[in-house]
Amino acid sequence: MRIFSGIRASGDKTLGNYSGGFRQYVATQEQGDAFFCVVDSHSITTPFEPEVLHESTLSVAAWLFATGLDPERSTVFVQSHVGAHAEAAWLLGAVTSFGELRRMTQFKERSEEQDFVSAGLFNYPVLMAGDILLYGTDIVPIGDDQRQHVELARNIAERFNGRFGETFKVPDGVFPEEGARIKNLQEPERLMSTTRGAPQGVVRMIDPPDVVRKKFKAAVTDSGSEVRHDPEEKAGISNLIEIMAVVSRTTIADVESRYDGQGYGQFKGEVGDAVVELLEPLQKRYEELRSDEGELRRLLGIGADKAREASAPTLETMYERMGFVRP
Ligand code: TYM
Repeated sequence: MRIFSGIRASGDKTLGNYSGGFRQYVATQEQGDAFFCVVDSHSITTPFEPEVLHESTLSVAAWLFATGLDPERSTVFVQSHVGAHAEAAWLLGAVTSFGELRRMTQFKERSEEQDFVSAGLFNYPVLMAGDILLYGTDIVPIGDDQRQHVELARNIAERFNGRFGETFKVPDGVFPEEGARIKNLQEPERLMSTTRGAPQGVVRMIDPPDVVRKKFKAAVTDSGSEVRHDPEEKAGISNLIEIMAVVSRTTIADVESRYDGQGYGQFKGEVGDAVVELLEPLQKRYEELRSDEGELRRLLGIGADKAREASAPTLETMYERMGFVRP
């Protein structure tokens, strides 16, 4: 089975990225032939600084290994190192409609927040479809916020296959049962993200223990007292229950029964402790990897070679089926 997922080289990675991203990557690498990509080309679609892009690319790569991707087993690489991604995006633009792209929720949200809305932001889902389709991907482990983009990739694949002949496998998104949409601790109706929402409600994977504990202690909850999962009525506490289920590798029902009859204060403190316990060893590995840039670049070089080899035949077929004269 072919597995592919991507993660942007921007901002500090959050507990949300851990839950919907990193954690799933490690679990799925056991199931087949897995490709994980630091999507630096996606990162230039919103305002960015060159030095930050540079740093973030290396930093996200380090997090991928620190959270458990095994370079012997998984192919970990940087998107811009494999030219096929940019080329595939251009070709797939021919079978993607303006209307489809305009309907993308993420585009609508992000474009409202910016003065300068780049063409890249609009085309972003086409680049993402190319990422996935180039590798004959069966499954795409992602969080809930990327669901619509994978749906679009499926439509693009089907349209291309219908128009030019069977070329792409139609991929399926896979989402974690718990924690597919971790919310901001201060604004539990919002996705946890570094790009918007109260910063003190965003738990970053690099946050030191005291900062993590403080953020959980200050988490917004409702005026009740029952530790019960009810996202409609009790958004804050439900989010904390999901986080606890994710970090202690258990289920929502188990967390509910464990904290049955206990107050919110106690519960919030214990979720903070559990997150610290999860993050501490990951941060240590991350720092080690970051301190040896040569080794990190060596691993990414091996990944890029493997990714180039795996994607080249698909790109060639795309050109041929579309009628391009090849050199
Ligand atoms: P990105 O970089 O925003 O996020 C990486 C992964 O983290 C998940 N995620 C979350 N999961 C749960 N709760 C949250 N609060 C949360 N925030 C983020 C995301 O769903 C994602 O799985 N467009 C993609 C990157 C991409 C990609 C791809 C993904 C480019 N090409 C091909 C899959 C396949 C993105 O911006 O993810």
